[in-house]
Parts: sequence; C-alpha cells; structure tokens
Amino acid sequence: MFHISERDFHTMHIVHVALQGCLRGSDIEYGITADTGGHIRYLLELVEASEQDPAIDRITLITRAFDSDFSHVDYTCPQEVLSDRVSLVRLATDHPGYLPKEQLYQELPSFMDAFEQWLRRQPQLPDALHAHYADAGEVAAEMQARLGIPFVFTGHSLGRSKLKCLQQSGTPLDDATHQTLMRRIAFEARAIREAGLIIASSRDEAEVQYADYPGYDAGRIRVIPPGSHLSAFTDAASTPCVDTMLGRFLTDPNKPALLAIARPVTRKNLAALVHAFGNSPALRDKANLVIVAGVRERIDHLESELADNLRELLELIDDYDLYGQVAYPRYHREEDIPALYAWARERGGIFINPAFNEPFGLTLLEASAAGLPLVATDSGGPNDIIEQCGNGILINPRHTERMACEMLDLLNDPARWQRMADHGHQAVLAFDWQRHVQRYHDLLARLCRPHTDTTPPRALLICDIDNTLTGSPVGIQTFNAWYQAQPRLGFGVATGRSFHSALSILEQAGIVYPQLVISSVGSEIHYLDDSGVRYQKDERWSALLDQHWQREAIARALEDFPGLTPQGPLEQRRHKLSYFSDGDTRLSARVQRYLQQRGLACTVIHSHGRYFDILPINASKGLAVEHVRQRFNIPARQLYVAGDSGNDLDMLRATPCSIVVANYSDDLLAAPGMSHVYAASAAHALGIIEGVKHFQQQELAS
Ligand code: GLC
Ligand code: MG
Repeated sequence: MFHISERDFHTMHIVHVALQGCLRGSDIEYGITADTGGHIRYLLELVEASEQDPAIDRITLITRAFDSDFSHVDYTCPQEVLSDRVSLVRLATDHPGYLPKEQLYQELPSFMDAFEQWLRRQPQLPDALHAHYADAGEVAAEMQARLGIPFVFTGHSLGRSKLKCLQQSGTPLDDATHQTLMRRIAFEARAIREAGLIIASSRDEAEVQYADYPGYDAGRIRVIPPGSHLSAFTDAASTPCVDTMLGRFLTDPNKPALLAIARPVTRKNLAALVHAFGNSPALRDKANLVIVAGVRERIDHLESELADNLRELLELIDDYDLYGQVAYPRYHREEDIPALYAWARERGGIFINPAFNEPFGLTLLEASAAGLPLVATDSGGPNDIIEQCGNGILINPRHTERMACEMLDLLNDPARWQRMADHGHQAVLAFDWQRHVQRYHDLLARLCRPHTDTTPPRALLICDIDNTLTGSPVGIQTFNAWYQAQPRLGFGVATGRSFHSALSILEQAGIVYPQLVISSVGSEIHYLDDSGVRYQKDERWSALLDQHWQREAIARALEDFPGLTPQGPLEQRRHKLSYFSDGDTRLSARVQRYLQQRGLACTVIHSHGRYFDILPINASKGLAVEHVRQRFNIPARQLYVAGDSGNDLDMLRATPCSIVVANYSDDLLAAPGMSHVYAASAAHALGIIEGVKHFQQQELAS
C-alpha cells in the first residue's frame, strides 16, 4: 500500500453521461425546461477546463436525443463537435419526445442498449465514465457491469436530502412525487455503492448527505469544490440605481448594511434574520437590514411558499416597527447584484445567510469576492467557504440572539472586519476550475490505472496537520521533496479534523498524499488501498470504540454545562462530540468528574485553550497511532510522530520517537511524561524533518 510511484504519462478518454434537460455545446437555453439548469453549467465548465490538460486526449458527452416543439434548436442531431477533443453524442431511444427528469426512467433500458452499442463501436473503450445525476448514475453502473469501465459519480443534488427537506417543512407528498423520489433514491443508492469515485462539492455533501445512503463509504468520496466565475464581483462598485432602490427605505442609508440575498423559500429562514435584528436594539442602532428576496409583481401571484414567506417578513417588519431601518426592494435586475454587494461593502456591512441548510452557497462566494465578510449558517457549504477563506463566522440558524451578537461584534471590530473583507478574495482562487481539474485528473489517472508499490514500509511517520505540517509554505515544499527521497518511509496524518476536511486541507496546502489518515482526534482511521485512490475505513477500530460509548447520554448531560458551547454539526461525529470552551484550564477536570459521577466513561481533550473534544474511552490520537503501528508491524523505534498542541499530547507521550515543532502551544513541553520528546528548533514542517533526521541518526549510531 505504500509509496505511490510516478505514473506513466498516458492520455485518457473520458465519457460524461448527462440525460436531463436540453444539453448542447454552447448557448444553453437555461430555464427553457425545468431541468435545463445548474448541473449543465457545471458539466460544461468542467469540460472546458478539463480539455485544456494534455493528459486528456478525448472527452465525449453522451445524452439523449429528442424532438422538441418548444425550441428552434435541433436536439435530435446525433453529433456536435465542440472542439478537436470534445464532442457531444445524442443517442435515440424508443420514445422520440422530450421527457422531464421524472419520466426519464422509462427510457433508461433503451438508452443503455444504445449506449452499449456505441461503446462497442469505439476503437477502444473509454478509460472512465462520469455520471451526472441519479439517472446517469444508474446508466454508468450498468455499463460498468456490462463492459467493466470504471465510473465516477456526481450526484449534484440528492433525493434523500430533498425528501428530508420536504418532510421537515411539512409539505404533503402525493403518491406520484413519492414514487418518483424513491426511484431516484434507488438509482443513487446503486451509483453510490458501485462508483469507483464520488465527487462532492462540499463537506456537508460528503459527510452528511451521502452518509444517508446504505452503501456510504467515505473513502470513495472526495470533496472538490466547483469553479465559479467571480470576476463581475471582485471589482464591482455600487450604482445610482442601487442607491435609489435602497435609499427610499432607509432613514440613514449610510449605516453598515446587513445584506441577505435569497429566494423567500422556507429553507432560507429569512424570518430569523428579522427576529435577530428586531430584538437587538444595539444592532438596530448600528446597522440597517437589507433583504433582497427575489422579484415580485404582486405577492398574490407568487407560488404559495414564496408568498407565505414574504407575508411573514412584512408582518414581522410591522410587529418590530422596523420602518426606516430595513429595505426589501420589489425589483432588481441581474446586473444590480454585484452593485448590491458593493453597496454593502462600501458601508462596512456584512453578508448574512441564515438558511437551515445551504447546500453550496454561490451567493456567499459572490459576497466573498466582493469583499463582504460573511455570517452564515453552520449547515452545508458555508463551512467550506469560511474554512478556506477565513472570511466569516458560522452561526446556528436557530439561535437568533447569538446571530445578532456575532453581527454586532463584527461591526464593532473594524480591524477584524477588514481582515475578513480582505480574505474574501481567496474565494476566487479556491473555487477555480483549473484547480478543480488538477485534482480531478489526478484522481482519474489513479482510478483508470491503479498502480501502487505494495512493498510494506519499514518505518512510519505520523504528523498532526494544523500548525505542524501546515503553517509554512516553504516548509511544505521542503517536506515534500525530502519525503519523496525517503526509502520505505510510510506517511500518515493524525488530526482533529474530519476525514474529508483533512484531505481537503492537505490538498490545498499541496502536501503529499498520505497513506493513512487518523481523523477526528483519533476516532476514525482510513488506509489508502491498493488502488491508490480509495481509502478503506478501519472497521475494527470503530467497533472497538463503540464499547462503553454512550454518545447520546453524554451529549444530553452536557447540554447546559457552563463554559461549553457545541461546535457546528459537521464537527459532531459518531465517536466525537466537540465543543468550544471558555478557556478555563480546570474545565477538563470538572467535566470529567461530572460525567464520571453519572457513569459515563469517556476521554476529554482540551486544546488551544478553545477546543474541547469528548471521545470514547479507547480513542485518542495516541491509541490510534499505536493501533496502526501494530497493524503494520512497525518496531516502536521506527515510528515517528510530530505535533504542536494539546490534542497531540497523548500521542507524543506514548511514542519513543516523538517530535514537537518549535511553534508549539498549550505548554506541551512542560506537561508530565514529555522529557523524552525531541524539541525541534525549526517550526512547522521543517521541524518534522529535523526531528526525523535526529532519530534516524540516533538509530544509525546505536
Ligand atoms: C479540529 C476539529 C475540531 C476539534 C479540534 C481539536 O479543529 O475540527 O472539532 O475540536 O480539531 O481537536
Ligand atoms: Mg495542530
């Protein structure tokens, strides 16, 4: 499983399968049917970036041919050549007419037969299929079964999440809708079970939404954020039109603006924002609220969900008597949007998204690019954006009081506001198709041509990530080069982050691929398998942690414990409950005593004076590292670990060859049982190299 060797340069033919809506090579008629939307834009932008890589020899897009009486475009044309490498192929099926996505399933059998014939006619089978959306997933799974071509799956949006959302909002489901959703979920379930690789856009998708399916396997899913086109937002300025649009609502239009842009659907939770604002005299004094909730001619003419939500907003504005302090324009044009962000930025404002769940969050990226700090829901895509850019604050969308406090604190701290505003520009770099395809192609190459060196390692280096591996870009470059030259040294990470968060940060920082990942503070272990692309979960480890672990009881017991506030929902894992602490150093002892008295066994770990993790009694980075050492039969003297903070303590203590990097915190070296530790004089990744060299020389000398 160790050391991935250099791949031979080899070009690939990738076939994308997408059945919905009106797909063509350019001038997409967005909105012409309900299914001609976002996933088509995603696909074409992906292909456009993908074809620029010389490693890609040929790209084919496969879709279904149909007659349309609603468009002048010929959607029966069997082939469109989009460039010298890219073409679009339309396959005819039994039924000649257009079908909405709900009815496409009827045509899948004849589509699959036509597709199989097409594939067999090619001089060579393609290297991989890439299926977009549930129905294409079913097709690709079937082609893999018939012809052995591996496939990648991108769900775009998942049936189970939609079902949950409908159920939570109390929308009645008629039989036909229910049946359609169940069919879609069944297709997704097969694709999830059988795909070689799944690409998700956010951690929420990878760790929560896909996890709702029976074949869920985290090690086959990667989070690769899509690109976005943000140039219209980076240098936008406000316009007289926006001045007039908002000015007429506000007594003092120059106060900082709290800006929300969202369709008034229940999921967007705009009412919470009015409650937060209405209930906080300090915030009302400091700022204006601006809600841009779509366009409306007459509220009565809108779909009922939109109308109901707008009526609720107007009623709340009346109840709280917010006249002169809140703007809620009826109209805006597409081109006003960049100017709206700019208007808020020029007033030192904030972009706010209080949604119950935000699957991705394009408006948050736009606001980031426009230089507006974010206050956004801790459920969904905002987590990834704020983690990558450090340009905002995550909030629980149900706690309006805290929401108001966070906004007020940010407005009252101009230096912090400025830092966050500046950081927003990183969104442009992070959400970029070129970056996307670099990672995507690397994974594709591994998927198509599995090629790993299976010689077992002789020694193993396991490093903490944040502030140990990361923190110095030069250090990382040196580390990568140094590591590649180490014969038979396995490399793994041990981190407080979740598995997908760990892989994302390593990728962003440009650190070599780890062969094992100990994540969520030692409560999960994954190993890279022989394919060199998939990780396998250590189920034995998980089973061990289940013993004596009373997760629900502990969570309940700590609900109102003074000094502890829960971290966001993504940080709560099967074997990890995480809180923020008030920083009191005696908190660990207090919590431990309290839980012990209630017969609740666990491990408590306090780090950076701020993070507070509760784990099963058998879990910690140290115990996980020991488990891995035994699994690979590594002698104790050939295991090196490196860390910098409190959650590394037990791993450093328990390992004979342990390294503390110079930039350590939490008074690590003064802790008991740490006298054997090598204290590097170099910081970050350079400190790791220094430490390993020290132990290697020691071994040679003995
Ligand atoms: C990471 C995790 C967080 C944890 C902390 C300390 O930041 O995301 O949940 O509390 O590490 O272990
Ligand atoms: Mg660290």
